[in-house]
Amino acid sequence: GKGEFAHFMLKEIHEAPRAVARTLEGHVDWSRGRVAEGLLLPGGQRRGLRRLWLAGMGTAYHACLLGAWWVEQIAGIPARAVLASDFRDDPPREGEGERGLLVAVSQSGETADTLEAARAAQARGIPVYALCNVPGSTLARLADRVLMTRAGTEVAVAATKSYVAQMVGLLLLALALAEGEEGRVRRSQVLDGLASSVEAVSRSLALEPAMADLSRRLVRERAVYLVGRGPDHAATLEAALKLKEVAYLHAEAMAAAELKHGSLALIEEGTALLALSGRAHLAARLASNLREAASRGADVFVWTHLDGAPFQAARRTYRLPDPGHELLAPLVQAPPLQLLAYYVGLGRGTEIDRPRNLAKSVTVE
Ligand code: F6R
Repeated sequence: GKGEFAHFMLKEIHEAPRAVARTLEGHVDWSRGRVAEGLLLPGGQRRGLRRLWLAGMGTAYHACLLGAWWVEQIAGIPARAVLASDFRDDPPREGEGERGLLVAVSQSGETADTLEAARAAQARGIPVYALCNVPGSTLARLADRVLMTRAGTEVAVAATKSYVAQMVGLLLLALALAEGEEGRVRRSQVLDGLASSVEAVSRSLALEPAMADLSRRLVRERAVYLVGRGPDHAATLEAALKLKEVAYLHAEAMAAAELKHGSLALIEEGTALLALSGRAHLAARLASNLREAASRGADVFVWTHLDGAPFQAARRTYRLPDPGHELLAPLVQAPPLQLLAYYVGLGRGTEIDRPRNLAKSVTVE
């Protein structure tokens, strides 16, 4: 049941720290400072790996965007996130998939588009590494290798804790694909960060009252815009999806640098602009994007864990907990923005746990 919570979505957002802990459990050999043997690909296959595709739909696709970034940053292997539907529509051509790997991400393991992408890969000799949350699901059964995210059962239609668990799973996969001396220091720093991530994710939930407060500012908006650079942009895509899905609020995520290439024309006095800033070396550039929007009247709200971030243009800056490593910032960004979507939905009187027109698992294309 929902216990003390008014909705499953709220309960499941609060279960994110446990989802992180359980997904790490048994997947990391803490004493040796490396991911567990079971996550590794056979030696030859791993060493020869030339490229990765990461495919999923909806929230899982957003996790893939981050996953591709992590694989490139941590393992140094070229990686591309694709919508599973696009992968299945235009699978790799003859030879293109050689020494490639498809990482298929799906909470339910039953999403038709994702299953078709996996089958298309296998038909071309590309092995499939699945990340899924439901043991014994179709995807888990057909994949060549499986990493179970252990978020537990997710009842609300909107993905919340399962997204956080997917991020952890993809980080573990990136670590599993990395090897050799090069980048060893970074790998152990990421692992150290993961060791404190349960605590960090848990602390991010302390923003709940502030998010409930902000929801009152947004509840009557007709549209909100969200911006970030790089992986922060991926995180805003997911936050926007939550606002659309559970709050029926038109929310559009954009790369911050893209604002001045057209969308700035949408900004008028009082337009709500939400920004994520997870990377120190990009803060000044983001701040300049935000200043430009604020000077056109945007009401800017920023989420960041960074000290002394230069966001004078912001009406409010919400302080996120230290993620332990900059690559892990998306883990602490997610729960507060999920809470925001929840409270905006609550204020707008939507069917939060079962939004209109949607199903938990999309088993038709
Ligand atoms: C959004 C949401 C959907 C799913 C998508 C893929 O909150 O839940 O976008 O993420 O339908 O579902 P799975 O992960 O089960 O393949």
